[in-house]
Amino acid sequence: MLTDNHGRRFYYLRLSVTDACNFRCSYCLPDGYRAMDNAPHLKPAEAATVVRAFASLGTRKVRLTGGEPSLRADLPEIIAASKSTPGIHRVAVTSNGYKLPRVIDRWHDAGLDQLNISIDTLDAGEFAAFTGHDCLPRVLKGIERARSLGVEVKVNAVLLQGGADRRLRAFLHWLRETPVTLRFIELMRTGDNRDFFASNHVRGEAVERELVENGWQLVPRSEDAGPAREYSHPDYLGRIGFITPYSEDFCNSCNRLRISAQGRLHLCLFSEHGIDLYREITTGNSIALAERIRRAIGEKEPSHYLQQDRVGATRNLSMLGG
Ligand code: 5AD
Ligand code: SF4
Repeated sequence: MLTDNHGRRFYYLRLSVTDACNFRCSYCLPDGYRAMDNAPHLKPAEAATVVRAFASLGTRKVRLTGGEPSLRADLPEIIAASKSTPGIHRVAVTSNGYKLPRVIDRWHDAGLDQLNISIDTLDAGEFAAFTGHDCLPRVLKGIERARSLGVEVKVNAVLLQGGADRRLRAFLHWLRETPVTLRFIELMRTGDNRDFFASNHVRGEAVERELVENGWQLVPRSEDAGPAREYSHPDYLGRIGFITPYSEDFCNSCNRLRISAQGRLHLCLFSEHGIDLYREITTGNSIALAERIRRAIGEKEPSHYLQQDRVGATRNLSMLGG
């Protein structure tokens, strides 16, 4: 198993398949996507080489991210290649859900196990204002379809100032009857969103305390669980999790590594630079690639240093998929 100098084990790969996105989330791409990097994106066979290399190092789960992965017509091929790699037990996709009802059956047929959809608000008008697309009902319909196919669904909601309490009430109402895991994510500062961050960041602690006071109970974590804390409640079919990168020990449970759509290894979301593996990847030699990855892990730092306001080279999360 791939282990770093701080005793963390990496059983989980986040593989970005594109940095393009059609949404304009205020904290990520408020002016829409503009290509910043003309390097080619990994083809399905190259993505498969990456997954094979990681699987040989003990990786068991692959998440395909973006940008927006559904913008790639060959995503089902990449899902299938990941899922059929020996050692990979679970394949997940993170998506904004824009195309979900149209594509979910194909993703499921290709072997998708889990889907993470970003919904910051259940108010359709607010959703349109947040993302630039008036399509919340379609996203929710796609989620229903995914659930009926047996795909596990998690919903990511970034915590934002202004109406946070109203949004929480609506989510709670929804979770009573909807068996999905909602995960509140603290807004992270990136290179591009300094002002938005300053006026919109809220800590998850107050929400978490309120839930505990109302009978929500912490779900015991497995040893290799990532940094999310999850709560359940007997009256609710859904669960609520918290991802709080600004809490002290957040990085201690880091279990993930990232590969950008251009084939660069990012040891942290907030690293200063990615390690370019494109040449090794295109040769198709997953053994040599695995060796290169194993050596690179030695450089992984203990923390993201976000608390010290260091944001590294990450201008926005569409570059790397969060
Ligand atoms: N801070 C926190 N979460 C973010 N996301 C994108 N940018 C940020 C940010 N700056 C979230 C998206 C999506 C997930 C992949 O990352 O809303 O749910
Ligand atoms: Fe929104 Fe994700 Fe697209 Fe960024 S990459 S604009 S967070 S949907």
